[in-house]
Amino acid sequence: MPFPTGIFHYGALASLIIITGCTGKDATPSVDGSLGAESGYVPIVLEGGNAERRLRFYVGSISGAEAKDPVSAGLLINRDGQWLLQDPRRIGGMPSSHLQTLFDQSVESGFLGLDDLEDYVQEHYYAAREFPATLDAWQERRGSWSEPDWFKLEVQGSMVPQRRITWVRRADVEAALDGMTSLTDSIVYRQGTVFIGEHVGNGGIDETTIMYKRGDGLWDFLAYDGEGNLTDLIRKEPRDMLIPTRCTGCHYGDRMFEPERSFPAMASPGPSGERSIFVPTAWRQPSIARQMQEHARRSDTVLGLYATLYLAEAVSGDSPHPAKARAYMHKFGLDSLQP
Ligand code: HEC
Repeated sequence: MPFPTGIFHYGALASLIIITGCTGKDATPSVDGSLGAESGYVPIVLEGGNAERRLRFYVGSISGAEAKDPVSAGLLINRDGQWLLQDPRRIGGMPSSHLQTLFDQSVESGFLGLDDLEDYVQEHYYAAREFPATLDAWQERRGSWSEPDWFKLEVQGSMVPQRRITWVRRADVEAALDGMTSLTDSIVYRQGTVFIGEHVGNGGIDETTIMYKRGDGLWDFLAYDGEGNLTDLIRKEPRDMLIPTRCTGCHYGDRMFEPERSFPAMASPGPSGERSIFVPTAWRQPSIARQMQEHARRSDTVLGLYATLYLAEAVSGDSPHPAKARAYMHKFGLDSLQP
């Protein structure tokens, strides 16, 4: 069994005592009679940073009900601050076997710890999500990423040592801009949006990472190797990044990274050399960058500066669609920035 049941954390113990009111010295405190197999719920013990978002992402990842987030689906319930996982059988429809197994195992141990959930998702994520097995299959679905329909951004940054070429459909950035009324609004991408990050090695593209916006409002993380086959890790020193559990750290956190942090100024070199967003100087527009604060705010757990640079391209007169560019400049009051 991949699911480690015997592990017991001090934090878990403390929370269970609160849940159960148990003050005995039993090594494995039993769960309150109102919780557990018969009641159809197991208590969840949150641990670590960004715990609530990670909980929603992990349960959503194996629930098989992508269109609904696990809270509105009734799988995750917050009762007076205590999160509970509801027995998927009680929700109706076809319960996901991955989630059902997790629930049944958690009933045995009396609770579900977030660390155990993370290990379980690491093991079952790709099987549960059924992503395309190859990059070619993505291209068949989405068309191949190329200008001018896709916005292209080159960055030498903090995620990996390689230079990254990131692609997002212009129409998806435009949909996010359409949802805003001012530059200080949240930038939120629509369901189905894909970010494609190509890692440029010596002999070409050696890895491709993808973020795909799901129906529950969170992003799937996935990656393909140099041959274009699905892989569950991204090579990095000193530790490879496991998918999806090591992807949430930076994307869900609030730590700032170079060169996005310094933009529109140039960033200083890092441990692996130059760090830069490779755009024309005219796109380094202080007033747009400072109002949007896209990297610092990361309203949608997206860390790059796509909306900022889309508008900077527009005011610089570089857009391949001048009429559209003018409309956005007008909408956001940027006409006076025109060269
Ligand atoms: C060390 C922090 C860090 C980790 C860990 C990390 N990322 Fe990122 N990621 C970034 C930063 C910073 C950017 C924006 C700049 C860039 O593209 O390099 C980014 C951008 C992206 C993008 C483009 C969309 C966006 O948010 O700008 C994708 C796709 C992506 N990451 C996928 C992944 C995947 C898949 C993983 C897990 C294997 C992962 N990331 C782990 C820091 C991280």
